[in-house]
Amino acid sequence: MMHQLMGEKSVIAEYKRLWQARKWMKKNEPFLQVWHAHLGYSLDLFKAFEKPNDIHTIANRYLYKEDLLKRWVEVGLAIGHLKEKRGKKIQSKKTMVVYFSKTSNQSVGILLKEMMELHIPTLLTYRNLLQGDEIKILEEDIGHTVAETSGLLESVMFPKIVGVVKKQKVKRILDVGCGHGGYLHRLHKKFPDINLTGIEADPDVQKKALEKAKGTDISIIQADFMNYVDQDQYDLLMMNNLFYYFSFEDRLQLFKRAKQLLVKKGYLLIMSPLVSSKHGQRFASGFNSFMSAHEEMYPVPTEKELLSYAKQTGFIQLSCIPVIREGGWYVLVFKKK
Ligand SMILES: C[S@@+](CC[C@H](N)C(=O)[O-])C[C@H]1O[C@@H](n2cnc3c(N)ncnc32)[C@H](O)[C@@H]1O
Repeated sequence: MMHQLMGEKSVIAEYKRLWQARKWMKKNEPFLQVWHAHLGYSLDLFKAFEKPNDIHTIANRYLYKEDLLKRWVEVGLAIGHLKEKRGKKIQSKKTMVVYFSKTSNQSVGILLKEMMELHIPTLLTYRNLLQGDEIKILEEDIGHTVAETSGLLESVMFPKIVGVVKKQKVKRILDVGCGHGGYLHRLHKKFPDINLTGIEADPDVQKKALEKAKGTDISIIQADFMNYVDQDQYDLLMMNNLFYYFSFEDRLQLFKRAKQLLVKKGYLLIMSPLVSSKHGQRFASGFNSFMSAHEEMYPVPTEKELLSYAKQTGFIQLSCIPVIREGGWYVLVFKKK
């Protein structure tokens, strides 16, 4: 009897273990889709299979290893990124061509590039970092990737900026850490009479922003905002996706600099993921793991922290609105007293 009971218990334990293994296998399944889409984007394979084609032809055309390409195709068929046509030819699903081709103006492939080539590798080195290995230095060429992925938020963010500009009758705007200048361009289109300036510290990113601004009167300055000297004053300062470049001490300085550059009753608009807020904590905590693994990157702020800088430097908070809830992204508006 005792033996039988022990036997049943161990069978249950075995099943529980199997169930756990299955659960974790399934948790990892979505990774296959990201891997497949990322590879498809980085080698422009969805474009190569835009029209029905056979694997052999594509492998020969681009000098790819046919057996590996075949495996990628098999995964694509299994998860629905690709479909099989007459004569066993392979064709990409239209959405994959639209969103994961290099030349598509709708492409979101850059986001997968950032996730797979920057975030995931960093998280994989965490074990070593945690045990005392040197913190990583961000590679130089990631500037464009980060500037572009931030730009993906523009369409959701822009209406919030428009709201402030219209309500406060803003005439001069300074965008700090403007990246490729996406917000400035949108503003220029909507309010051609507003005076627009962007500051960007990364010389390569600034160069691209400058090229994009050709033919407009948008000014793009290459400078570190902390050392930037400007005789002008602005009605509105924007700091979008910027705070994680600054240490806690420097953040107070950011507010002080903002105050100097704003007219009396001028506005400071900040878009940032926030930690310890109501929304998006999974994303914000993952994001922070990435930030802390790098030298010269810092955790995203809390609302309380920003409020404290505002109070110390003479700003009042007007609003704090979630714009992308699952990502914990908020827009905060402050007014200089
Ligand atoms: C994540 S990107 C965001 C770009 C844009 N604001 C957006 O939200 O789409 C932040 C940019 O700020 C720039 N940056 C960081 N520290 C800076 C500083 N001290 N002065 C000026 N720009 C800075 C970075 O080079 C980077 O291009």
